[in-house]
Amino acid sequence: MGIKRVVICTGKGGVGKTTISAATALKISEMTKEKTIVASFDIAHNLSDIFGVEIGDKVTQVSDYLYVIEPDPDNYIHQYTDRAFSLAKATIYDLAVTRLSPTLKNLVELLVTTENVPISAKQAAFFQIFLDASGHEFSYVFGDFPPTGSAKALLEIPVFFIDELVKKAFTRTTEGALTIAYEGIRRLLNPTKLLDGRSPLGDLFTELREIKARGERLSEILTKYLSLRLVCIPEHAAVMETVRANDDLKHLYCPDVVYMNKIISDEVIADNKFLKEKREEQEQRIKELEEMLPNMKVYKGFLRHREPITVDGLRMFADDLYGNATVEEILGIGPPKKYIEPSEKVLDSPKAVEKKAKS
Ligand SMILES: Nc1ncnc2c1ncn2[C@@H]1O[C@H](COP(=O)(O)OP(=O)(O)OP(=O)(O)O)[C@@H](O)[C@H]1O
Ligand SMILES: [Mg+2]
Repeated sequence: MGIKRVVICTGKGGVGKTTISAATALKISEMTKEKTIVASFDIAHNLSDIFGVEIGDKVTQVSDYLYVIEPDPDNYIHQYTDRAFSLAKATIYDLAVTRLSPTLKNLVELLVTTENVPISAKQAAFFQIFLDASGHEFSYVFGDFPPTGSAKALLEIPVFFIDELVKKAFTRTTEGALTIAYEGIRRLLNPTKLLDGRSPLGDLFTELREIKARGERLSEILTKYLSLRLVCIPEHAAVMETVRANDDLKHLYCPDVVYMNKIISDEVIADNKFLKEKREEQEQRIKELEEMLPNMKVYKGFLRHREPITVDGLRMFADDLYGNATVEEILGIGPPKKYIEPSEKVLDSPKAVEKKAKS
């Protein structure tokens, strides 16, 4: 079995990201009867509350084909960085520069440590390790992401780190150049070390190459299978944040679905004037969103008078949300679209090509 789709939901706080991720995952797991997982990437996990079971840092089964996890990113960052960090330190110490200055050694000890890794990088490390491992076990992976700002960091770190930094900067040529420079400094500072030959730099490079390969696998999974989704409610601030989130994220992966959640339904309105006016205002917001994001598929979820919690509540919510939609309609197909800068579009337009050919 291999991964078929990775669905990531992000959006403003409290709009229903966790509810929608959980409900959609449950629906897909029941329709396909294939192993599906929801992982929380929000530090303030609340999947446990939504499913009404204790989850925590291990994969927990919550229904026939559905599994959930609320990871502690601190546990995963060690797997990711411990070896690289100790090799980096060994390499620096091997130069013997630090022996000349105890302050420098203290500084290295202080800086090159897992504790200094920012939380978004820790989450990103878990994201890589998790997708790498779950790819073999689960067909459908759902990521319940934190609100927009942190979601961008989570998606950006692997993209930036792997595509920009590691692929472009960490090449055989840079490896070679670094080795020459390193050996030069090493000889200069520590001539006796010349005799014991092997430096830790080679091992550090091997470790970095492994990190790079893992990052490339993650990048490949996202490029092929990701569907990035925005969750919104029909209120001005949420609509504006959704539009901004789309603008921000599209440079990484184009979001392709918006969920408009907590819409007041006709049954609820009855003759209530307040609710009727509220709903009119909501319709205005929905229209604004649809106008601002014209190419996005919009799913509408109604405000339920009972919170959609527990497997039964989530199932009812998902049935309402998706009606008779097929698995393909719910999950979408194909890789995430690539955003093309307007300037590039102009350059590639037939007229521009013609112009170029003439000149
Ligand atoms: N359509 C709905 N009808 C009624 N209650 C809802 C609906 N959608 C979500 N809720 C409730 O709204 C609250 C917030 O939902 P949820 O936790 O899914 O939002 P979130 O976007 O994940 O929040 P956070 O930003 O805190 O992670 C929960 O109590 C949930 O049960
Ligand atoms: Mg949440």
